[in-house]
Amino acid sequence: MAVNRVPLLAGNWKMNLDHLQAIAFVQKLAWTLKDASHDFDAAEVAVFPPFTDLRSVQTLVAADKLSIAFGAQDLSMHDSGAYTGEISGAFLAQLDCTYVIIGHSERRTLHAEDDTVVAAKTAAAVKHGLVPVVCVGETAEDLEKHGPSAVPVAQLRTALEGLDAGADIVVAYEPVWAIGSGQAATPDQAEQVAAALRDVVREILGDEAATRTRILYGGSVKSSNIAGFMREPNVDGALIGGASLDVNEFSSIVRFQKHVGV
Ligand code: 13P
Repeated sequence: MAVNRVPLLAGNWKMNLDHLQAIAFVQKLAWTLKDASHDFDAAEVAVFPPFTDLRSVQTLVAADKLSIAFGAQDLSMHDSGAYTGEISGAFLAQLDCTYVIIGHSERRTLHAEDDTVVAAKTAAAVKHGLVPVVCVGETAEDLEKHGPSAVPVAQLRTALEGLDAGADIVVAYEPVWAIGSGQAATPDQAEQVAAALRDVVREILGDEAATRTRILYGGSVKSSNIAGFMREPNVDGALIGGASLDVNEFSSIVRFQKHVGV
């Protein structure tokens, strides 16, 4: 983590927690972090609930003035129209979403989203004033065939093509083999790929963007391994799945600065 970038600890709930559970969860998360005197300016917290929870989370965050950001897990590449089941970035912006996850490996695999779709969705997010959290990562097979960086680098290059240099984005490196497997990458592996991804941001969006863009690691992150990742200069936070569904565990990850000595 570099000093000039505020770390982002982001919880991707995937298809978990309905809107009532979401309210209870976010309330408890806010209390837990407040009780622990968490400095929200020193480490940003964000949650990514299912679409159906977003209005409830928005209302709670606004009413209680919580310093917890939120976003959606996907969006349509289109603005509006005959796209049954799709959600426009314009709707997400109206719900005060700051972020939107794009190109998660589960969407790439289960919904056949390729790099072109991911690029169109990234552009749509930026167009609607949302910060895309662009996910890239290699499978175990890619890793064996091409090494760790080649596939994520190619994925990111396509996703960023056509964006303006001023675009506000977040990149998440999530090796597919590490997601939900309990087998996280090593901090060294994460750093190596994060550095390569930062070079892609520099090549396409320029130096300023490369310096300010946060690059997250995701894949079996827990409170017991976050420390190692956050010590790496090019890793600026984490995208957390399973461990983000437990308030105490997620809070502990968010408070990594208190227990890792960085
Ligand atoms: P896990 O933290 O459960 O491995 O999931 C990572 C992930 O896919 C976050 O987007």
